[in-house]
Amino acid sequence: MSLNKNLKKHNYKTTKIQRETLHGHKAYLIWFTGLSGSGKSTFANLLEIELHKRGLSTYILDGDNIRLGINKDLSFNHKDRAENIRRIAEISNLMIDAGVITLAAFVSPYIKDRKKVKQIVGAENFIEIFVNTPIEECERRDVKGLYKKARAGKIKNMTGISAPYESPENPDLEVFTERQSIEENLEVIINFINKKLNKTHE
Ligand code: ADX
Repeated sequence: MSLNKNLKKHNYKTTKIQRETLHGHKAYLIWFTGLSGSGKSTFANLLEIELHKRGLSTYILDGDNIRLGINKDLSFNHKDRAENIRRIAEISNLMIDAGVITLAAFVSPYIKDRKKVKQIVGAENFIEIFVNTPIEECERRDVKGLYKKARAGKIKNMTGISAPYESPENPDLEVFTERQSIEENLEVIINFINKKLNKTHE
């Protein structure tokens, strides 16, 4: 809800389609969701390398980086996570409007918040990829040492330990990192994205 009712949207002459045409491809938001340590950033990173190599315009929005900058005022309680995701959705919306393929790697544990992202950017622009790594495996990897701290009570609201993670009911794509290698999953992701990118403006 806007606090200021005296606002009116400006429509500028250069359109999103013109920007996409300049870039030579459509813009999408590719949203990776999953537990901390599930592999979201790894896949976002590898996918961006591949797309960038092909000369496509890309950008990555990532949980830790965004929370060190524009969202540094937000905690990990339910309300702040919702606000974190809302702001990221609005940023993504601008990135899409700019014609850039945007890759987002956020835990985004609540179905309601992810649905809101889809609504903000438009369902036709939104691709949800569920990086399905069970909590036991994330905890075993514990790349950042956060699970150990959470078990010791040093981190509150740790997703999967003391805060919930709501798995996507109907993601566009789901990858299982325990059963398949990074390379195998990356191939699945790239094949899926290729199909989307091959679509032209109707
Ligand atoms: S979200 O839930 O609001 O979507 P986000 O993706 O921005 O989370 O940030 C998650 C990152 O913050 C994790 O990768 C982890 O490095 C770090 N982190 C710190 N505290 C927590 C916590 N309590 N729960 C989950 N991640 C945390």
